Amino acid sequence: MSDTSTTLSLDALAADARARVAACAGLAELEALKVELFGKKGAITAHLKSLGALAPDERKAAGARINAVRDEIGAAFEARKAELDSLELERKLAAGRIDVTQPGRGQQPGGLHPVSRTRRRIETIFRNAGFSVEEGPEVEDDWHNFEALNVPANHPARAMHDTFYFPDGRLLRTHTSPVQVRAMLREKPPLRMIMPGRVYRCDSDMTHTPMFHQVEGLVVDDGVSFAHLKSVLHEFVQQYFERDLGIRFRPSYFPFTEPSAEVDIECVFCSGAGCRVCKQTGWLEVAGCGMVHPNVLRNVGIDPERYTGYAFGFGLERLTMLRYSVNDIRLYFENDLRFLRQFG
Ligand code: DAH
Repeated sequence: MSDTSTTLSLDALAADARARVAACAGLAELEALKVELFGKKGAITAHLKSLGALAPDERKAAGARINAVRDEIGAAFEARKAELDSLELERKLAAGRIDVTQPGRGQQPGGLHPVSRTRRRIETIFRNAGFSVEEGPEVEDDWHNFEALNVPANHPARAMHDTFYFPDGRLLRTHTSPVQVRAMLREKPPLRMIMPGRVYRCDSDMTHTPMFHQVEGLVVDDGVSFAHLKSVLHEFVQQYFERDLGIRFRPSYFPFTEPSAEVDIECVFCSGAGCRVCKQTGWLEVAGCGMVHPNVLRNVGIDPERYTGYAFGFGLERLTMLRYSVNDIRLYFENDLRFLRQFG
């Protein structure tokens, strides 16, 4: 037996074991100590083994002493284990503590962007009036965006659109009107549709962003007149603002319509009395419209002698601003949750 602990006297061994058991800070440490003392090569075991070397008359008393020490240390182990177990349980309970009196953290449900809400409302209003909803590409070519819409190269109207061009001559559509062209090339009259989507212009201030949304409208059929256009837009305005608002048509110019008009609504802020928003006029401009120009119909292979049509276009951000009294269009695109949550 070379192990020093086995050579300790039984009393010293017992005292040492008691101190070490008491000092154990964890269950794993306690288990390791148990093996060290009681295992096959353990100190206690060594004492028991040494009994064989004693004279038979000494064996009984010595065996009884060793057993007593073994039982005493064993009991110390059990007691320390119970202490450590309960400490461990308390630690777990403290870590998983739940204060049921705290207010709940709650959920933060997301919501639709205000411009998406407007788009959906507008789609519903027009679907109810028998319009379908169509889309077209945001990357366009010059022909669909300008040429087919009666805006030839060097036409002064091109200056109204600050166009983003790609090196290959394609462009980001500056309005949703090219979707009219695509629709009329694809389908023949009767046509009755709106075409919402993103459009792009190199422009940025309180009322302009480089990307914004428009909704285009197009109706082509036998005997379509300006009166139809007026009644549809009038009805739309009443439904969109959920109010009986005055509406007026001002003569204007667009290359793709003849005659053309701009649509004003009674100012939603002052009800026509005159305020800062309507610049004291009592009116707010919300859309452009007109009868589809015969050249446009010819460009897409529709006979202008047989069919007539009307078209209109308005800005979604502008309609959203008027409905929710927002004064800076850039707020829509800054993704500030304090702004967006107000529309939840
Ligand atoms: N495309 C025009 C723009 O972006 C809006 C517009 C005006 C569309 C008259 C139309 C229309 O369809 O008839 O300013």
